Amino acid sequence: MVAPFGPDPYMNGYYAPFLAELDAPDLVIEGTLPAGLAGTFYRNGPNPAYPVRDGDRYHVFDGDGMIFAVTLGGGRAAMKNRWVQTEKLKAERAAGKRLFGVFGNPRFTDPSVNFMDYNIANTHIWPHAGRLFALMEGCPPVEVHPDSLATLGSETFGGAVTGPFTAHPKTDPDNGDLHAFGYSAKGPGSTAVRYNIIDAQGRPKHTTFIDQPYPSMMHDFLMTDRHVVFPVMPVVLDMARAMSGKPMAAWEAERATAFGIMPKGGTAEDLRWVESDPRFMFHSSNSYEFGDDIVIDVAGSARAPLMPDADGNLPRHEDTRFTMKRWIVSPGGVREEVIDDLDMQFPRIDDRRQGKAYGSTYINCTTRPTAGRLDGFESLARIHMSGGARDSYDGGDGAYFGEPVFVPNGPAETDGWLLALKWDSVRNESALLVMDAGHLADGPVATVRMPARVPGGFHCHWRGAPS
Ligand SMILES: [Fe+2]
Repeated sequence: MVAPFGPDPYMNGYYAPFLAELDAPDLVIEGTLPAGLAGTFYRNGPNPAYPVRDGDRYHVFDGDGMIFAVTLGGGRAAMKNRWVQTEKLKAERAAGKRLFGVFGNPRFTDPSVNFMDYNIANTHIWPHAGRLFALMEGCPPVEVHPDSLATLGSETFGGAVTGPFTAHPKTDPDNGDLHAFGYSAKGPGSTAVRYNIIDAQGRPKHTTFIDQPYPSMMHDFLMTDRHVVFPVMPVVLDMARAMSGKPMAAWEAERATAFGIMPKGGTAEDLRWVESDPRFMFHSSNSYEFGDDIVIDVAGSARAPLMPDADGNLPRHEDTRFTMKRWIVSPGGVREEVIDDLDMQFPRIDDRRQGKAYGSTYINCTTRPTAGRLDGFESLARIHMSGGARDSYDGGDGAYFGEPVFVPNGPAETDGWLLALKWDSVRNESALLVMDAGHLADGPVATVRMPARVPGGFHCHWRGAPS
């Protein structure tokens, strides 16, 4: 049996655990799927199989990864969902209960699994070298089969990935190289960061280690035409603090933010740091060179949401709203501009523009007053990065949109479709919406009805059907 999950807000409502694995071969579609749209939309996210151990406290970043896949083509749609069968989940399934502390906190972990990596594979699903990987920043990638969603095992790319691996690698659109990093690379709470390049065939091309100024939780990083940038922001890991019963990862407001700039394929000797006042992002939109400056566009805030201070106090939503910000990193410092003040969650772009000057970012966002991040992101929008009116679609009262994904169907950044999962909390119904990316305000061209509620999640990827 599974004990009740308890009152934690991320164990109820939008994020309530979904305990079934389904196969729905032919779904109801309202409207008409575009004839050229054939492939699979994937969504990874946290979906705890068991409630936390006595005395521990759940965090939405901690749930076991579950992949939802919606396959479109020939005017039809099918849906499938599977947990990623991590070693953690398999051990806990065998025991019939949770064995690990939240975030692997050793204070709450059963000694029987002390030897085992804490991998929940719950954050992103990203392709490389013709394969598909479930990613969580604490561990190596976990390969999943793109059709069956069967878990195929961890991947080290020839031994180059020796531990943590970001959930936000960057694929170089010019040569297919995958640039990635892992923090806590020499043990939890260490300052070591490993930087990898894996070539388009999946072979290790470059591996090096750098040290960040303090052991920050580095969720995302940046890649331009010529550089990678490691953003060090004051969410700090402290294992001694965790063992004393306080947060393992906490916001330390007295720390500076620092941007570590390194040529692609560089080493620690090539790294230079630019410091700024504390600022935060979980997710970048894009980054590119502009003369001697590096332009970094982010869903940014003054303080990290969802992360407590060292005493365990969580921040208020109004202090942590993510809005579209431009951080211009110059040799002498960092300048910030606000591109759009919408309260947003996940920015995505036309991936063909990764690292290059670009015009559009797609987001899920809210235009309504909210008290927190559980209130839903009822809208989708396209933001013009050089100014101009945004194009947006409001999903209505009680709507929750997940991360949107752009699927190109022409050369421009608006030639294509925008796909996003929507949960209607009033009717308790989920759907995948297919929008004309250039005309979001017109509403969906097709709505693919899911056979059950799809719980809230994180990141998405579109894989075109093999031609
Ligand atoms: Fe993320």
